[in-house]
Amino acid sequence: MKFKIAFVAAVATLLGGGLQADPVALMDDAIGLSKTSVFDDPAPPEVAYSSLDPKQSGILPRFWEDAPPQVPHRLDKFLPITAKANKCLECHEEPEKIGKKAKGKPTPMPESHYVKSADDELTVANRRYVCTLCHAPQAEVGTLVGNSFRGDQ
Ligand code: HEC
Ligand code: HEC
Repeated sequence: MKFKIAFVAAVATLLGGGLQADPVALMDDAIGLSKTSVFDDPAPPEVAYSSLDPKQSGILPRFWEDAPPQVPHRLDKFLPITAKANKCLECHEEPEKIGKKAKGKPTPMPESHYVKSADDELTVANRRYVCTLCHAPQAEVGTLVGNSFRGDQ
């Protein structure tokens, strides 16, 4: 019985304590990621994207299995992707070479990026057409918020 009373008292203290806690004050420059006042409108810092041509870029590490690979080479020459023109496909659409990556050659898009017709012909899936939705260009930028996520564990 003694224990029960102590427990109720502890809960009451917790509840009471919670109600009496001072409101947390946040300064206007500690709310956003930019570390300036939320009333400012700072220009985003300029970042330099890769200027390497695909032939020299090599490939980048994958963060976890099935993560979309990062784009290792320059993109400025190959964008925008429009309904009529998709330069990425000119190099990466090689249905006959799926899974056969050769050093320095474009990695063939995987089978998941195609739809198969009744006669087994592969056509690029519409939902994969805008490559940069998932494959991000890379630039040297600092980490805004660190984290220790590791997809391989
Ligand atoms: C002129 C040919 C060419 C064009 C155009 C091109 N790429 Fe590439 N891409 C390559 C080559 C070559 C590699 C591999 C480099 C290596 O292995 O050394 C590569 C690698 C990649 C990779 C990394 C694959 C992996 O195995 O990790 C991605 C993702 C990629 N490209 C996406 C794109 C996207 C998105 C576009 C269009 C905006 C594009 N590429 C346009 C030739 C090209
Ligand atoms: C909806 C997201 C999405 C879009 C859009 C997309 N991809 Fe991918 N891509 C992925 C994911 C996820 C993987 C890794 C898993 C897999 O192999 O399916 C991948 C893998 C790849 C690979 C590596 C293949 C290998 O065998 O290692 C290449 C190259 C590639 N994509 C190119 C492209 C190109 C070029 C386009 C545009 C025509 C494109 N992707 C559009 C998500 C996407």
